[in-house]
Amino acid sequence: MARHIRFGGLASIVVVEADDEIDALIDRPDLDRTYRVEGPPLNRLMISRLRRALFRDGSALRSFAPRGDGDRASAQGAFAKRVDALAEQRPWAPEAIAVMAAYVANGTDRNAALAALAYATAYPFLSPEDTSYEPAKFRRLFGLFEILQVARNPWKGLLPRLLGKDRHAAREILEMTGGDDYGLHAVGITLANSVVILDHLRALFVEPQTAEARATPLEWNKVRTSAVAVTRQNNVPCRLPGIPDEVPANSLILLKMRQALRPSSPDGFEFAGKHWSYCPASRYIEAIFDRVYDVAKNRA
Ligand code: HEM
Repeated sequence: MARHIRFGGLASIVVVEADDEIDALIDRPDLDRTYRVEGPPLNRLMISRLRRALFRDGSALRSFAPRGDGDRASAQGAFAKRVDALAEQRPWAPEAIAVMAAYVANGTDRNAALAALAYATAYPFLSPEDTSYEPAKFRRLFGLFEILQVARNPWKGLLPRLLGKDRHAAREILEMTGGDDYGLHAVGITLANSVVILDHLRALFVEPQTAEARATPLEWNKVRTSAVAVTRQNNVPCRLPGIPDEVPANSLILLKMRQALRPSSPDGFEFAGKHWSYCPASRYIEAIFDRVYDVAKNRA
């Protein structure tokens, strides 16, 4: 059931934690990714923090643009086509897949596996002449992601933010991912989800694999996860199901997808698959883990 948190007028935040409610709200035209620094003081504080993470040079990253923004939808479609082709080819360096598979099968060297995961995530943005797997380079890339993660923490991240460490890290990630907004999105933001998926895959192998398990393809729903939360703002006052009062304009709508995700959640829920903001990289991400799973089965 959705909740409206107001803290005596200091905030207006709607929290939604059920998969069917999220699916019903995510496409509403009056809820969008606007990130206006407006509304009550706590909202403005939270939106300012979100803008620091999701904006580049004063504008939203293309992956966080509002629904009707310029070429957002065509860029999303074109990127989906490009990475769907990569998902078919599975072009990653075998050494990188092997390092992830070794961690999944036997729990060895998680840090090496995380560097390899950063490589596979960044792969669509690497220059075509330089797609080889260099462990040190991608350990650095994973380290840059970790700097951003710490900087996003309200308290622990205060000093790194004051020192501008997050801005430096974002710039360096962009240098390594062809200056592409989607590259910064992939490495700087979504890697957090892929790390969880990698650890779910590892958990499947903690018990010795039976011959029957080895013969079965990866069941994605056993390892999937979603973003912790997806955010929206309402541009006009609105009524939302389960909330008795009108929700004022410029409220923050937190769709808590990870908490909402259940084994029974519809396929693709974790990627907003049926909605305007669907993740164009869903098949690409699944293909990475599918490949790692296949190699891990032969090592366990
Ligand atoms: C290579 C890695 C990834 C890339 C390049 C990528 C790219 C994108 C882009 C461009 C969008 C915005 C589409 C638009 O509205 O125009 C998006 C949305 C989304 N992605 Fe991904 N993604 C990646 C990985 C992931 C992962 C690992 C997850 C979760 C498991 C995920 C979940 C989502 C969700 C839930 C949305 C919808 C956000 C919203 O409704 O505002 N993505 N992704």
